[in-house]
Amino acid sequence: MTTRRKKIYEGKAKILYEGPEPGTLIQYFKDDATAFNAQKKAVLEGKGVINNRISEFVMLKLGAVGIPTHFIKRMNLREQLIKEVEIIPLEVICRNIVAGGLATRLGLEEGTPLPRSIIEFCLKDDKLNDPMVTEEHITAFNWASTQEIDDIMAMTLRINDFLCGMFSAVGITLVDFKIEYGRVYDGEFARVILADEISPDSCRLWDSTTNEKLDKDRFRRDMGEIIESYTEVARRLGIMKEMPTVIRGGLH
Ligand code: C5P
Repeated sequence: MTTRRKKIYEGKAKILYEGPEPGTLIQYFKDDATAFNAQKKAVLEGKGVINNRISEFVMLKLGAVGIPTHFIKRMNLREQLIKEVEIIPLEVICRNIVAGGLATRLGLEEGTPLPRSIIEFCLKDDKLNDPMVTEEHITAFNWASTQEIDDIMAMTLRINDFLCGMFSAVGITLVDFKIEYGRVYDGEFARVILADEISPDSCRLWDSTTNEKLDKDRFRRDMGEIIESYTEVARRLGIMKEMPTVIRGGLH
C-alpha cells in the first residue's frame, strides 16, 4: 500500500481501515487462511482477490432484492468501501444440510438434509472459541434486542432462500453459511444491516452433482486445490472472467 491509512481493526482474514468519509471504512481481504480458531494457518495466494469479488457479487445481488448491506463499492482487487457499523457480536449460522460442527455436536451424518433450515447463534469471541448461545443469553447480556433478533432471523432466512436459488442455478448446493450483522444509526434509531463477507471462506458449497467441496473445508481437511475451488465458484457465478491469470500469478 502506498497510502498511509489508519488501521481500525485486523481480523484473521480481513483488515478494516478508516474510510474516505465519516461513516465509511475500507475492508481489505488478506490471503491468510485460518481454521480451528487460528490453530491452523496458511497463506493462500490470491484468496483475498477472489473473496473480495465473490463477496461484492453476493452483496450486490442481496442488495438488489432488498437486503440492506454494508457494501458500498469495490475499490480495487483487494478492497471494498463499506458502511461503518457497530458490529453485533454474533456469528449467525444458517444450515440446510448437516455438516461440520452440527455433525460433530449431534452425531449426525454429514450430507443429511435438514427437515428445515436451522439458524444458530455463536458469540463472536475467539478466546472462548465462539461458543453457541441462545436468544436468552443474547437478550440477557444485551448483545442484541428481541426485535433485532427477530429482524436478524427474518433476514437470514431471506438471504438463505435467495442464496440457495442463486447457487443452485450454477450447480452448487448451499450447505450452510455464517454471516454477521451490524447496526447503523439514524439519530437514536438503530437499523440492522448485513456486514462482513459472504465467500467460500464463510459458506459450505458443494457441487450439486458430485458433492465435491468447493469451500474452506478443503483447507480445514487438507484436501488441496483450495484456490482452484474458490475460482470455480467465481467462474460459475460468472465473475472474474476478465482476469483468469490473476490467481495463479498471485497478483497483489
Ligand atoms: O463449523 P460449523 O459447522 O459450525 O460452521 C458452519 C458454517 O459457518 C460453515 O459454512 C463455516 O464455514 C462457517 N463459519 C465461519 N466462521 C466461523 C465458524 C463457522 O465462517 N468462525
